[in-house]
Amino acid sequence: MPFTLSVNGKTTTVDVPADMPLLWVIRDVLNLKGTKFGCGVGQCGACTVNINGRAQRSCQTPVSAAKGPITTIEGLSADGNHPLQQAWMEVDVPQCGYCQAGQIMSANALLSQNPKPTDDQITSAMTGNICRCGTYLRIRQAIHRAAAIAANRPTQTARVGAAE
Ligand code: FES
Ligand code: FES
Repeated sequence: MPFTLSVNGKTTTVDVPADMPLLWVIRDVLNLKGTKFGCGVGQCGACTVNINGRAQRSCQTPVSAAKGPITTIEGLSADGNHPLQQAWMEVDVPQCGYCQAGQIMSANALLSQNPKPTDDQITSAMTGNICRCGTYLRIRQAIHRAAAIAANRPTQTARVGAAE
């Protein structure tokens, strides 16, 4: 069954079963491998993408329910210059890295709603993203850093959290 999706600013039509998880569409049909399969049951957050600016578990989202613009980790920027990407590099957040695309996409949704979150707000927003390597403190530090980077980029301030 054909579905028309907007992924990272491009409109594309995929011919897949209506109940296919968006995660499989992203990875196996559109060949965007940055979004990871972790648990497959909505518990780890590795598969997080943004739909309509909100963090969504793509393993739990049937393609037929994916209404609105979808942003994956590949869609944040063309050159790694998104404030979150810059901050993640500065703080050197990842250890094994497996969870990090999902972490960044949850952080992106948070910053799009709240450009200057507190520690508690970060903890609350990120609570569904598990990191088996325990990088939580660096993630929190990097989100604060990304907020500061974005605040110092006048042309991007209005688009904090958005794909560039
Ligand atoms: S793979 Fe989707 S929440 Fe774990
Ligand atoms: S960096 Fe290894 S799971 Fe998070």
